[in-house]
Amino acid sequence: MFQLKTLALLSPLLFAGICTPVLRERLAQAPPPAFDHQVDSVLALMTLDEKIGQMTLFTTDWGSTGPTIREGYKEDLRQGRCGALFNSQGVAFTRELQRIAVEESRLKIPLLFGFDVIHGYKTIFPIPLGEAASWDLAAIEKSASTAAAEAAAAGLHWTFAPMVDISREPRWGRVMEGAGEDTYLGSLVARARVRGFQGKNFDNADKILACVKHYAAYGAPLAGRDYATVDMSERMFREVYLPPYHAAVDEGARTVMTSFNELDGVPATGNSWLLDGILRKEWGFTGFVVTDYTSINEMVNHGIVANEKEAGELAANAGVDMDMQGAVFQNYLEKSVAGGQVKEAQIDEAVRRILRVKFELGLFADPYKYCNEERERKVILSKENQDAARDVARKSIVLLRNEGVLPLNKNLKTLAVVGPLAADKDNLTGAWSGSGEGRHCVSLLEGIKSKLPGANILTAKGCDIEGTDRSGFAEAVEAARQAGAVIVAVGESRDMTGEAAARAGITLPGVQEELVRQLVATGKPVVVVLMNGRPLAIPWLAENAPALLETWWLGTQAGNAIADVLFGDYNPAGKLPITFPRSVGQVPIFYSEKNTGRPFNPASKWTSKYLDLPNSPQFPFGFGLSYTTFSYGETKVDKKTFRRGEPLHVSVSVTNTGSRDGEEVVQLYVRDLVGSVTRPVKELKGFQKISLKAGEQREVKFTLTENDFAFFTRPMKFGAEPGEFDVMVGGSSDNVKMVRVRMEE
Ligand code: NOJ
Repeated sequence: MFQLKTLALLSPLLFAGICTPVLRERLAQAPPPAFDHQVDSVLALMTLDEKIGQMTLFTTDWGSTGPTIREGYKEDLRQGRCGALFNSQGVAFTRELQRIAVEESRLKIPLLFGFDVIHGYKTIFPIPLGEAASWDLAAIEKSASTAAAEAAAAGLHWTFAPMVDISREPRWGRVMEGAGEDTYLGSLVARARVRGFQGKNFDNADKILACVKHYAAYGAPLAGRDYATVDMSERMFREVYLPPYHAAVDEGARTVMTSFNELDGVPATGNSWLLDGILRKEWGFTGFVVTDYTSINEMVNHGIVANEKEAGELAANAGVDMDMQGAVFQNYLEKSVAGGQVKEAQIDEAVRRILRVKFELGLFADPYKYCNEERERKVILSKENQDAARDVARKSIVLLRNEGVLPLNKNLKTLAVVGPLAADKDNLTGAWSGSGEGRHCVSLLEGIKSKLPGANILTAKGCDIEGTDRSGFAEAVEAARQAGAVIVAVGESRDMTGEAAARAGITLPGVQEELVRQLVATGKPVVVVLMNGRPLAIPWLAENAPALLETWWLGTQAGNAIADVLFGDYNPAGKLPITFPRSVGQVPIFYSEKNTGRPFNPASKWTSKYLDLPNSPQFPFGFGLSYTTFSYGETKVDKKTFRRGEPLHVSVSVTNTGSRDGEEVVQLYVRDLVGSVTRPVKELKGFQKISLKAGEQREVKFTLTENDFAFFTRPMKFGAEPGEFDVMVGGSSDNVKMVRVRMEE
């Protein structure tokens, strides 16, 4: 085992406890006091410069021959001036960097290695928005645990995920990275991802630290532009945007990342109300807070401080523990302590939090714990991981329209597989795809070919994703004419989503829709396969495509998963986690809107509406078709009147009325009819994904408790107000059956 010679000599206390594996059921709980002694023992040895080093995170780079680190950063490691690195990966590289830290630095404090493992490390899973469409928390947890296992095998300790930003902004490029528009679903997904990444403990070095981001409200930028201003009422913030971060912290996430945006005039990175107040005091968070990339420096641009030194002071005093890449702490914090602008006690607290997490990971006991070449070879891209990716990928697909076309017959002799994304591999990983590579992805064309090895498959690109070149249309149309069915893959390119990738228009780019129109005009059965990272406004396709499948970016196993759905080996069951508008002009559009004083009434001009479009979306939240059909009985409750604090039991009988087995997401919504502040017309408060054989009927039961009726009341207190509520159950937010109940004191 690695010997921490200096520390062990100076501190027997420190060395005593570190070899004992400490089992923690819940990482959120206060860390074992033993670590506090160990942490303090280390802290006692540190110079101020070394303390600030632990608060400093730098990136490594990727050169043409592999990973590299700037000479200056290497020297920082030797001097103890940098305690964590990100974007380093691979056992050989991380081992070498760790060696520098633990053999060449004075105190030999191990490094922490972070990376954006958002939806897979090398085996790429669907983009998070796609995974949320599965409404399958076990599948989402499995995706995160597979990502963690691969990342850990590559020497990584820490992922900058889950991203839990609620977003009702399809223009925003990062909407692909979250779980969509809904707080309830988003909070459960946040928990599932934290469980998947962190597991119960880090004993086997196959789990990694989660980092909840971007705290807070990054998903609500004005006009959808990345990094733009966020401004909302505290009630909206606490009710809609804040709960998923809380859920993730409550589930045990050990780190939190601040967001780039300001909130009510104060940038999140310098916001003590968010960091010290809500996160630490209200929620009891004991892990550490890292900034987003250079977000301390950016506070100068925000106009909240005059220079970087002041920015560092604002951040440190607000409760930031680690500076990502900005080097503000490194450059100025010592001066700020000398000048009395930041107390050394504040620095000590930050360093304690960081060291404690390093102890929890077991890095002091064995800094090379995550360095195992054999495991790296075995785990990454394993067959088992491919199977998991295929399973989650097909669960994420949403069938938006089907005029009797799908599933396709496996006896088809000739098929046309066309469109700019039909044979594409590079885009399938989507944005934020870790270390994933297009060459490991199964394209749609490959997936179809392996499903129908004997078929004659005609292919043509037709056009590019962007641009106006129509010269390939004729070849694609000719292929369609010769085929028994046409599959056309269209959408966005992966770099149209993710960070700094907002779009003002959210239609299908380029001339892709024209291509589809020409294919549909052949009269052949045309299946439109969408690949994209945000809700698109596609009214013509939504009303004219014979079949329309939303496949997001499904990752490494995309082609196989889509082929499973196209040919009926898997019956699609995904439901939209975000509303699809008819036009960008409807944005923001989401199901849980307020009624207003003049709700839309077609008989009256003076009500809330557009002159040129319906209010309703193209596809609502919770919507998704299946190859079978489900019918819902009346929504029943065990009592129409119940007392505050008493559970309310809700049930509904769901029948598979079609001829195929299938899965259905049964959704429960609540509306508070009269409140001390106005309430949304619908709020998701429960769901169950059930599997029913053809013809099978099942009673689905929910239990609602007081919290499900609660909200931030007029005096900003969370609680339920007695009165009337509607309880609604159905298979989509726009298709529910309602029962009215009354809560009494
Ligand atoms: C900036 C992004 O906003 C954040 O999500 C990411 O984790 C960091 N860069 C590090 O790559």
